[in-house]
Amino acid sequence: MLGAKELVDLRVIGDERGSLIALEQGQNIPFDIKRAYYIFGTQPDVSRGFHAHRRLEQMAICVSGSCKMIIDDGETRETVLLDSSTKALIIRNMLWREMHEFSPDCVLLVFASEHFNESDYIRSYDQFIREVKNGKA
Ligand code: TYD
Repeated sequence: MLGAKELVDLRVIGDERGSLIALEQGQNIPFDIKRAYYIFGTQPDVSRGFHAHRRLEQMAICVSGSCKMIIDDGETRETVLLDSSTKALIIRNMLWREMHEFSPDCVLLVFASEHFNESDYIRSYDQFIREVKNGKA
């Protein structure tokens, strides 16, 4: 499911002053960006996500701190540790995601291929499994 290529190394442009990473639509972001948001100040022991998207594609970068992302395609569940501002996780559509173990300093930056649309969300795991099975029928 989650191929190695879905966790991509971002090219760091570094010099004696420090580091810089450039994100460009169609280059290292594999879709047109309609929205960006970031999650920060997550309280201790809080988990987030617990949904899939029917169409939306996203790219998540932990620009500070760390968190764990669970990605589930309906058959296999994989945990990805996001603990580097030089790695980007591409999350395709129809993948259940959960986010756990946010460090207090975690800032999770997300780029999204669509505007916010609640009707694109599948917030029930049972419904997600039904739609995965229907899609494969
Ligand atoms: P949600 O996607 O459910 O958060 P998470 O997956 O991190 O648990 O979003 C939380 C709330 O924020 C929900 O009421 C929808 C709102 N929201 C927006 O209004 N715009 C956005 O771009 C996002 C991602 C969420």
